[in-house]
Amino acid sequence: MKEHKRYMVTSALPYANGPVHIGHLAGVYVPADIYVRYLRLRGREVVFVGGSDEHGVPITIKARNEGVSPKEIVDHYHSLIKESFERFGISFDIYSRTTSAIHHRTASEFFRTLYDKGCFVEKESDQYYDEEARQFLADRYIRGTCPHCGNEQAYGDQCEQCGTSLNATDLINPRSVLSDSVPVMRTTKHWYLPLENYESFLKKWILDDHREWKTNVYGQCKSWLDLGLQSRAVTRDLDWGIPVPVEGAKGKVLYVWFDAPIGYISNTRELLPDTWQDYWKSDDSCLVHFIGKDNIVFHCIIFPAMLKAEGSYILPHNVPANEFLNLENDKISTSNNWAVWLHEYLDDFPGHEDTLRYVLTANAPETKDNNFTWKDFQDRNNNELVAIYGNFVNRAMILTHKYFGGTVPEGGEPTDLDRSTLSEIGAIRKKVENAIENYRFREALKEAMSLARLGNKYLADAEPWKIIETDRDRVCTVLNTALQLAANMSLLFEPFLPFSSATLKNMLRLPAIAWERIGSGDLLPAGHQLDKATLLFEKVDDNAIEKQLQRLAAAKSAKAAQKRQTYQAAPAKDEVSFDAFSAMDIRACTILEAEKVPKTDKLMKLLVDTGIDKRTVVSGIAQHFTPEELLGKQVSVLVNLAPRPMKGIVSQGMLLLAEDADGKLVFVVPEHTVTNGATIK
Ligand code: 2FM
Ligand code: ZN
Repeated sequence: MKEHKRYMVTSALPYANGPVHIGHLAGVYVPADIYVRYLRLRGREVVFVGGSDEHGVPITIKARNEGVSPKEIVDHYHSLIKESFERFGISFDIYSRTTSAIHHRTASEFFRTLYDKGCFVEKESDQYYDEEARQFLADRYIRGTCPHCGNEQAYGDQCEQCGTSLNATDLINPRSVLSDSVPVMRTTKHWYLPLENYESFLKKWILDDHREWKTNVYGQCKSWLDLGLQSRAVTRDLDWGIPVPVEGAKGKVLYVWFDAPIGYISNTRELLPDTWQDYWKSDDSCLVHFIGKDNIVFHCIIFPAMLKAEGSYILPHNVPANEFLNLENDKISTSNNWAVWLHEYLDDFPGHEDTLRYVLTANAPETKDNNFTWKDFQDRNNNELVAIYGNFVNRAMILTHKYFGGTVPEGGEPTDLDRSTLSEIGAIRKKVENAIENYRFREALKEAMSLARLGNKYLADAEPWKIIETDRDRVCTVLNTALQLAANMSLLFEPFLPFSSATLKNMLRLPAIAWERIGSGDLLPAGHQLDKATLLFEKVDDNAIEKQLQRLAAAKSAKAAQKRQTYQAAPAKDEVSFDAFSAMDIRACTILEAEKVPKTDKLMKLLVDTGIDKRTVVSGIAQHFTPEELLGKQVSVLVNLAPRPMKGIVSQGMLLLAEDADGKLVFVVPEHTVTNGATIK
């Protein structure tokens, strides 16, 4: 990689309205931490900035719901998040917050500079206003009836029942969340950043000059740029945030996505009051943003446009955004409590920080969404960390203590096996370096693990325990080599697994050694006294996993119960005549064959025995049932529905299903199995 004089590494500022979960860690904080730990080990000048994002409407809503002030909410979560990151070894140089005085000043000045340079466009628009609460209403502060499904509790930006994105003006009978009064339209003024003016600069800078960016990032930027950019309001009518620093802006604050990325700058400024500009304004600095995919447009398009408009800042060198991590095959959801929360993990698995770091890196959603399961977590811990890396180190340590009182034995003439084993280390180091420098952390970890596998294989091939009585000299060489391998591992794994690396270094009593020495066979001198052997990794037992699965199951049933409680039946349909009803030919049928329709998520192609014939029915149930579950099942089918082509297959009928409050589908079937073709009326 082109070497830069210094590195400015940022990781997305998490909203301080909830704790951090494994999705955040896998997407952003673990890869960022690996990267900066690596840079530091390479002796680079690096600053790693984090902090809490403490503004925005969701924080004010949470505060309202809990009857406390927004400040109380952010104080609570900021401390919780900061402490969890520390316990987990995310090695920020600073973890600050966007409610800090220095951030308010920095963001205010930034806005004012753009304002004075004439970079903004002032525009008036009509927005909902609550006359009782005397304030404009953010979309989330308006509720009303969804025009699509009739849900009376839809929000001004989205209906949570049918998932449709809405504009506040789409709602039927809109009401203010603040006072329950009917909001009125009022004209308001805001400042807009005309992104269209930056389109050609962004096109060249990203599409021509940054073709090396990850394809998911490049592709998303390209779609945005191809669609054409539009001006975006950078101010809001809200009483929580950074006041807009111009005349005539009373009651207005900076839009949270305007101030949050400036938080990276403020936090650097807080850390390095005298030298922060070297990191942000000097061409020999390298700025890298670690973020999740939902933040791409803000970091690759809007923030760079802001920096360009300001004029004195450097632009990001890379934005290695990750995709999302799912949990047990479902989307992680804060509101559904479908998550593994970092602070709870740390309490439940003390001493297992590296296990989570390992699993999240090995499974990182680098190129596509990925899945975390507790079973995989247990397997990777027990079968990889414990059985490969830990086992190798343990054997080398125990044997050295047993045969040589814990002193590194003097190596003799090396054999081909010794030589080839030691010579692999340097090659592996190069592969790890290359992968990390190109933001491929999964691959880097896999390479590092290949060193542990090599160590295990070495001991298995050399079998020192078999020759201790007959060839003690050879055992000296083998254990010397094994200990050199272990010492190399303690360095190579440090960016990924800092806790166990520290334990291993202590066990080996290894002094500080430069990364560049990885590959040497003489990190530990003969005669060096080792500390006593301790286990590098502990097994995770079935009970611990079961407890986590039970917690998730409880979250799922709590959510389902809540959904049932708040369930609103769909509005009644228009009356139909008895004749219209009797015209429907519904029969008991049996599913004979079932297969998913390729290249679709939802469709299942079925062959059903209707009693009249055997025919094809295509049904949108593939996300709810597997083909195996369907085979041989008796179902009810509307058999005289006009045939419909679906994805090139003609469907000759429709299955009858009921949708439960939580969205689960269940078949409507006769109470007992009946003859195929029996009519249902
Ligand atoms: O998506 C989020 O969680 C935002 N709080 C990320 C902000 S990143 C940066 F701009 F501060
Ligand atoms: Zn709806």
